[in-house]
Amino acid sequence: MGKYYITYRYNANKSMDNCAFCNADGDFLIVPQQGRLLITTECGRLKVSPGEIAIIPHGFRFSVNLPDGPSRGYVAEIFGTHFQLPDLGPIGANGLASPRDFLVPTAWFEDKSYPGYTIVQKFGGELFDAVQDFSPFNVVAWHGNYYDLSKFCPYNTVLFDHSDPSINTVLTAPTDKPGVALLDFVIFPPRWLVAEHTFLPPYYHRNCMSEFMGLIHGGYEANADGFLPGGASLHNCMTPHGPDTKSYEVCFFLTIMQVLILVCASSS
Ligand SMILES: [Fe+2]
Repeated sequence: MGKYYITYRYNANKSMDNCAFCNADGDFLIVPQQGRLLITTECGRLKVSPGEIAIIPHGFRFSVNLPDGPSRGYVAEIFGTHFQLPDLGPIGANGLASPRDFLVPTAWFEDKSYPGYTIVQKFGGELFDAVQDFSPFNVVAWHGNYYDLSKFCPYNTVLFDHSDPSINTVLTAPTDKPGVALLDFVIFPPRWLVAEHTFLPPYYHRNCMSEFMGLIHGGYEANADGFLPGGASLHNCMTPHGPDTKSYEVCFFLTIMQVLILVCASSS
């Protein structure tokens, strides 16, 4: 199977009742934006809140309940490879997403009959279903990963220039080509942006990778008004893009104020 990916947005208003899903094609990276997800897997249960992420490896049967009612968020599916932590390179031994912060599901199983229990399986991009009379969550196991994004330790420039978004990679699905991943999962968490001689929002640019963005909460520094939580944007590779006019003007004003303050401080 080749290496490729698909991104989705989900809107759910009903828990999965008496059924489970299994993806035989790829791994899911699930990013809730609104409403917690209670995900029951063959390795136990995960309660995933907005601000946390979960990975469901391919081949796992899982069922999702919505303890907060209607829910929405983002999903990435990758094929032919798996997510891993990025090499830290010159950062050293510690930084970005630390392996110790990845959590495991709470072990849980049930051994009872479920007449009419349906397994929906995705294979080759098509859906198939099978009916059985018992729960698929009858396995005693505990391995798995989910991660609280607030544990992420961001890095940034300390003197000048705007860092590439890859500096904020949480997980990467690599290819054989150094520097070009199949899919990087990158976050822009709350952080200080301090630099000299640098326009702080992302400058206008083109990427060698396509850029899909979602917003869990807060605002995005390069889009002052038009990008709300739950929204999404897509800039395909080599498509020029950058901050909107209002973000540019606000940052330009702040930069001028900084220069004036420095001039006043040096002349006093
Ligand atoms: Fe970009």
